[in-house]
Amino acid sequence: KIEGELKEMKNSKELYEFKNLYLEGKKSKISELMKEMGKLAPEERAGYGKSVNELKTWAFDRFADMEEKMKKLELQHRYERERIDLTVPAQPAKIGNLHPVTLVRNQLIDIFAGMGFEVFEGSEIETDYYNFTALNTPQDHPARDMQDTFYLSPEFLLRTQTSAGQIHVMEKKQPPIKILSPGKVFRSDDDATHSPMFSQMEGLVVDKGITLGDLKGMLDVFVQKIFGEGVTTRLRPSYFPFTEPSVEVDVSCFECGGKGCSLCKGTGWIEVLGAGVVNKRVLENCGIDSEEYSGFAFGIGLERIAMLKYGINNIKLLFNSDLRVLEQINEK
Ligand code: PHE
Repeated sequence: KIEGELKEMKNSKELYEFKNLYLEGKKSKISELMKEMGKLAPEERAGYGKSVNELKTWAFDRFADMEEKMKKLELQHRYERERIDLTVPAQPAKIGNLHPVTLVRNQLIDIFAGMGFEVFEGSEIETDYYNFTALNTPQDHPARDMQDTFYLSPEFLLRTQTSAGQIHVMEKKQPPIKILSPGKVFRSDDDATHSPMFSQMEGLVVDKGITLGDLKGMLDVFVQKIFGEGVTTRLRPSYFPFTEPSVEVDVSCFECGGKGCSLCKGTGWIEVLGAGVVNKRVLENCGIDSEEYSGFAFGIGLERIAMLKYGINNIKLLFNSDLRVLEQINEK
């Protein structure tokens, strides 16, 4: 009977229970056989005891034997279960990529750093003086409405332009000045191409004999590096209180080569930034001699550049954190 059941044993737990039933403790089958001895005639006891003991030894050996076999078998099963297949292809590790606006910012910093610009980070909270007054924007000037401003108090506001940083730099340092100032700006504006918060990159150069020609030459190099060789710039007259003359800078359409397409709305040109020769008044406001020095400044909207460069038609796509959009723009 023991043999029969032993063959059925599947694991060492079953075996252990089976062994208990037959061999261990007072209630085991072996103990019961021993108890039977009392009922026998004295002359039969010796023979009976001997055979029960033989049975016991035999059963112990069989169990020990089985136990060893079970352990080996179980170890074997475990090895098979836990075997590592080194030839299975690895799951590709998912790594993130930089946000398009960060990409553009890094690219611009690289380009301008290569021309000798230093980075100056201004602050997002400004006073009316730095954001407007020192930039030659009088109290009642329409420019203050033009850029609908978020006021924090009568004195403090969220800067509407990185140009505010120009004043901080020029107050602290005499020319030569060559700075680049990237950062967030805020305007109460909200549609497909405007967001209440967006990013700008300001550039400012002040030195002896700086002219609009220097600005144009530098911008040509810049647009070729960002949009590709062969593109050129065109300056159109514009107005900013802090530059005189002021210009709106267009780049020849990199999509159609200037022939006219949907991106440039058939004109062959795309507006990319505002710039100009630093207004003498602004230099004087900062204690820089406007007879001796002159300069140029420019302000680039980073979201706008990212939208043009990567073909994004709604600025909100840059702020929604939708991975389906962001993962498509994956470059260094
Ligand atoms: N600050 C201007 C704007 O936000 C851009 C600009 C910067 C124009 C520097 C001229 C010079 O529209």
